Amino acid sequence: MIGLLDALGLPLLGLMEAENAHALAIKALTLMPHGSAAADDPRLRAKVFGLDFPNPVGMAAGFDKHGEVPDALIALGFGFVEVGTVTPRPQSGNPRPRLFRLPLDQGIINRLGFNSEGGAAVRARLAARAGAPGIVGVNVGANKESQDRIADYAGLIETFAGLASYFTVNISSPNTPGLRDLQQGALFDELLARVLEARERTSRQGRRTPLLIKIAPDLRLRELDDVVGAARRRGVDGMIVGNTTVARPPGLRSAAAREAGGLSGRPLFALATRMLAEAYVRVEGAFPLVGTGGIDSGATALAKIRAGASLVQLYSSLVFCGRALVGEIKAALAAALAAGRHASLGEIVGADAAALTGEPWPP
Ligand SMILES: Cc1cc2nc3c(=O)[nH]c(=O)nc-3n(C[C@H](O)[C@H](O)[C@H](O)COP(=O)(O)O)c2cc1C
Repeated sequence: MIGLLDALGLPLLGLMEAENAHALAIKALTLMPHGSAAADDPRLRAKVFGLDFPNPVGMAAGFDKHGEVPDALIALGFGFVEVGTVTPRPQSGNPRPRLFRLPLDQGIINRLGFNSEGGAAVRARLAARAGAPGIVGVNVGANKESQDRIADYAGLIETFAGLASYFTVNISSPNTPGLRDLQQGALFDELLARVLEARERTSRQGRRTPLLIKIAPDLRLRELDDVVGAARRRGVDGMIVGNTTVARPPGLRSAAAREAGGLSGRPLFALATRMLAEAYVRVEGAFPLVGTGGIDSGATALAKIRAGASLVQLYSSLVFCGRALVGEIKAALAAALAAGRHASLGEIVGADAAALTGEPWPP
């Protein structure tokens, strides 16, 4: 079914309204009989925040918001899958249309606004696959109308305790008004204290589920200083850099570039990679980073790793390139390691970070 979508369907999906095309892709993955992916090159294995990743290429949050197809995505060759963003109570998100392709720029703009089936529905799906192999993280968010957003995050950590391989606290979606304020000062510190406390309270047999923070690529460097400082003091396990951008880099050619929302895909690569390097030099090895934003090839994945990422995630490029991209990226990473005589990707993580932070700021 998915093979059919690649050969015939990708052009057809490209003609459909973007959100209908996404629903069809999820449907196809639901129906697809999924065996297991071919074994990965052992050099691609990575132990990051205590988890054993078969390869470092993950499916970013937002593709499987409701936890419908994590095992099908693992079977496509992803080293891990991030389900969500999930909100505590179901909510429909913003009015449609709210998802736009930028074909001339290989980008996407979305203003979905956390459409979510809610914690209970997603929990039931993950409970049904409990014990199955594969690293499946849960990305959590707050309801739009919530009176206590921090309580929403802490509550979801309880909801998914024992079912999530790791948690991502998403405070960087541009599509829920005020959400990104949680990245600021005392509010950020209080958020960290309460989600880490919820994680502690729900830990079983001393096994703590890794907890990551997902930040916006639009933070100012002064704000990044504060975010990294608080994350280090509180002892988070990792950080994802980052979410979509509200910026519109010069030179976008697609008609949809004027739409409001978060921009992802190729036009995000330079900014997100620079922010990743800026985070890496500030974190000083205190916790690992996940590099996300504009990865569409082996070369761009390698650049993220050299900028400071221990793991990478992608979403937008799949829309334009199809699932074969996952295998291509893994093959390119393995070839780069062989050519450089490196035993693992860990040897090159952050190799270019310091140099990148000295370059002119990307436009
Ligand atoms: C349609 C769409 C929906 C998204 N939804 C979420 C989401 O619910 N939660 C989240 O943390 N990130 C979400 N993202 C952001 C992605 O996880 C990722 O951080 C961003 O798209 C950059 O990666 P990319 O350039 O490879 O797409 C979404 C992205 C897209 C394109």
